[in-house]
Amino acid sequence: MLNAFTRVVAVGSALFWTSSVLAAATATATASSPDGSIAVKVETDNDGRTLYSVTRKGKVLIAPSRLGFLLTDSEAMVRGFAVAGSETAKGDETWQQPWGERTNVRNHYNELFVRMEQPSGLKRRMNVRFRLFDNGIGFRYEMPKQASLTTMRIAEEVTEFNLVTPGTAWWATAQEWNREEHLYNKTPINAVSAAQTPFTMRLDDGTHLSFHEAALVDYSGMWIKRVEGQSFRALLSPSATGPKVVRDTPFSTPWRTIRITDSAPALYDNDLELNLNEPNKLGDVSWVKPMRYIGIWWGMHLDKFSWAQGPKHGATTARAKEHIDFAAKNGFGGVLIEGWNKGWDGNWFGHGDEFDFTTATPDFDLKAVTDYGRRKGVALIGHHETGGNIAVYEAQLEDAMALYQKVGVSAVKTGYVADAGGIIAPGAKPGETIMEWHEGQRSVVHHLKVVEVAARHRVAVNPHEPVKDTGLRRTYPNWVSREGQRGMEYNAWGQPDNGPGHEVDLIFTRMLSGPMDYTPGVLSLVGKSGQGMASTMAKQLALYIVLYSPIQMAADLPENLVKHPRELAFIGSVPVDWSETQMLSGEVGAFAVIARKAKRKPDWYVGGVTNGEARTAEVALDFLDGGKGYTATVYRDGPNADYRKDTRGDILIETRSVKKGDRLSLPIGAGGGFAIRIIAGK
Ligand code: NOJ
Ligand code: CA
Repeated sequence: MLNAFTRVVAVGSALFWTSSVLAAATATATASSPDGSIAVKVETDNDGRTLYSVTRKGKVLIAPSRLGFLLTDSEAMVRGFAVAGSETAKGDETWQQPWGERTNVRNHYNELFVRMEQPSGLKRRMNVRFRLFDNGIGFRYEMPKQASLTTMRIAEEVTEFNLVTPGTAWWATAQEWNREEHLYNKTPINAVSAAQTPFTMRLDDGTHLSFHEAALVDYSGMWIKRVEGQSFRALLSPSATGPKVVRDTPFSTPWRTIRITDSAPALYDNDLELNLNEPNKLGDVSWVKPMRYIGIWWGMHLDKFSWAQGPKHGATTARAKEHIDFAAKNGFGGVLIEGWNKGWDGNWFGHGDEFDFTTATPDFDLKAVTDYGRRKGVALIGHHETGGNIAVYEAQLEDAMALYQKVGVSAVKTGYVADAGGIIAPGAKPGETIMEWHEGQRSVVHHLKVVEVAARHRVAVNPHEPVKDTGLRRTYPNWVSREGQRGMEYNAWGQPDNGPGHEVDLIFTRMLSGPMDYTPGVLSLVGKSGQGMASTMAKQLALYIVLYSPIQMAADLPENLVKHPRELAFIGSVPVDWSETQMLSGEVGAFAVIARKAKRKPDWYVGGVTNGEARTAEVALDFLDGGKGYTATVYRDGPNADYRKDTRGDILIETRSVKKGDRLSLPIGAGGGFAIRIIAGK
């Protein structure tokens, strides 16, 4: 082989093309990442199909794969193109996050911008911009303004990913009924059907990959569909209106991203998508406050309380005040009260027509509760469940956020409970309904609209049943967290529940996209029917460290939390904002150990979780400062901790002096974990 790209073959016939097209078709454009390890090549074949390919360390990673579009109202944009020109650029900057897993983020890349053009026929133009990092790539289409393409009606994106080396995939099914809340599959790569992103793989040569997207704005969300063998293609979320995406030129698509690393920890410690987003557009966001919170939430999911009015109505003024007292006493900055407003009494699942976002139920005095909270230093966290009815929500959005600003609610949890494809969009004619997908273009537009309106009113947003996270928190730092996968609620009533390995799966898939409002901290370790949860006690504490979110709930009922005073003290003081993060060790789907340094403090926290298998974690404290003494408190599984046994709550809490370079050997029970708080000083 002359080089890694000699696998490029001329597909189809060149008979259609004039000699000038054939001459142009031989042009190629190439670039490599700053350390030279990852290289991209763009070229056309004899049919004028645009192909890109990727090598890593000289070995083919992605064989020539097509770029282009199918349109609903015009000839497909896949053939007859030639490389009309290309440019390269470089970037290296370090920027700061207002909150996050780390304060400083380095954005170091080489760029390749390729101009594709159809020399004959419709003479359309399509540009592609690649950014090459040492730990991954991103590329997007940039569609210039042009007479033969004023509005693009996209039937499908033809972006392909032709993987060469076999391996294992961790993936959750896409385009399925249950929004994006499905358990992960572990299969050979060639057994995937259609996957949500982030979609993670380990190739047999040890390369780790994760496919995702960055800056999903005014476009439809992308799933990844296997076509044959190890060949994949972008699959855009559908739309009720026909074309999956409608955009006027000029516009850019979201970035298609591939993290590419040698190890699972490097896949995790990777800011690819954040770097591909635009900088903060909101300016001063000191009003966005990372916080720990509690609520009446778990009581709803246990059926102890109801969202609807009636004898079990959870959202009463008295109960909210009790929770505020509990929060103030135990280190929590917020209280979430769901079911506070009108609209819950009928069948709201997938309907939401009755929701009124500015009128409280008679037994809930919004002003009295927020005034009480203010005196106690505890914020009420707002709640806007829409039942998937974004038409009803958008009509009230401005007033709803203005009300929250007025009473001092600075964060809102939103919700879109409806089956996939059941988002009720505005604009329907009388008697008709427009049903969209959770990640279709209309929903994507909606979510950003909520975030923008909320920002004007200084409210942070945490959507459940959301559109996926594509790093837009960089641009809109009030988009603090979201759900977007199975959360703790499935351990209340899920059939099946989340199981012992779900959180580890999340760490290497869903969590690669950004913060998740998983809502850990069910210290009773039982679900709605008293069934044991697939977790140990120590794992519940570990989740605060390994599942990053700047808002973290202690989900359990207060009366359960107080039964575990030492664990409650940990949860009520664990930081929710970090200056540094490193995954110390981990294997996709098996285990992960993550160290984080508290913001503006010398203290470190380490969390570790395993799947259904017991194992021993070796934790090297090499990240501590040399010459300094620290006190470590270790919360770990006791000898009887096992998610399958009634003794799953067995926990050992030990304190010892530690220093840089020390090694801790920590046994973890099946379905278990550990948490370590390391405070500077002896
Ligand atoms: C589903 C959310 O995930 C859950 O947290 C919430 O309690 C219900 N919807 C009601 O809004
Ligand atoms: Ca949910």
